[in-house]
Amino acid sequence: MKTGLQTIAAWMLTVATLGAQAAPPGTPPAGDPVKGREDFATYKCAWCHGTEGQGGLATVGPRIALVPRGLESFIAYVRKPSARMSAYSEASVSDAALKDIYAYLRAQAPAKAARDIPLLEQLRKPKG
Ligand code: HEC
Repeated sequence: MKTGLQTIAAWMLTVATLGAQAAPPGTPPAGDPVKGREDFATYKCAWCHGTEGQGGLATVGPRIALVPRGLESFIAYVRKPSARMSAYSEASVSDAALKDIYAYLRAQAPAKAARDIPLLEQLRKPKG
């Protein structure tokens, strides 16, 4: 049976090993959010989805900031969109550029709730 100290030592070793490892299998290497921001404009994603992926006016493109999809699903969608968005082939936007765009979108701050935006809260509250 292990002593308490051995258990702690084994645990610390595990933590150290996990920390030293590269990302676990299946995890995509992180893209560059700064380059992603440029690409998001260059490839006109921003035209429909807004400069920060916040969603366009008149619902041209939905909000895609923070994309709940994984990287693979994100790239797959851009290559073969399901409805109105036009497809981007590998020749027009590389996987590497999409990885950067993905990193940029994932780096966005979460949207605030309406009640945390004073102006909206003012509108929501009945006057009087
Ligand atoms: C001409 C407008 C337009 C452009 C340009 C555009 N999109 Fe879209 N996008 C849409 C619309 C509209 C949808 C909603 C689904 C549909 O109609 O295909 C969408 C959906 C998406 C979705 C799926 C959202 C989800 O999770 O369901 C992703 C991801 C996406 N776009 C990424 C991109 C990226 C990345 C680019 C640039 C390389 C881009 N889009 C350029 C209009 C656009």
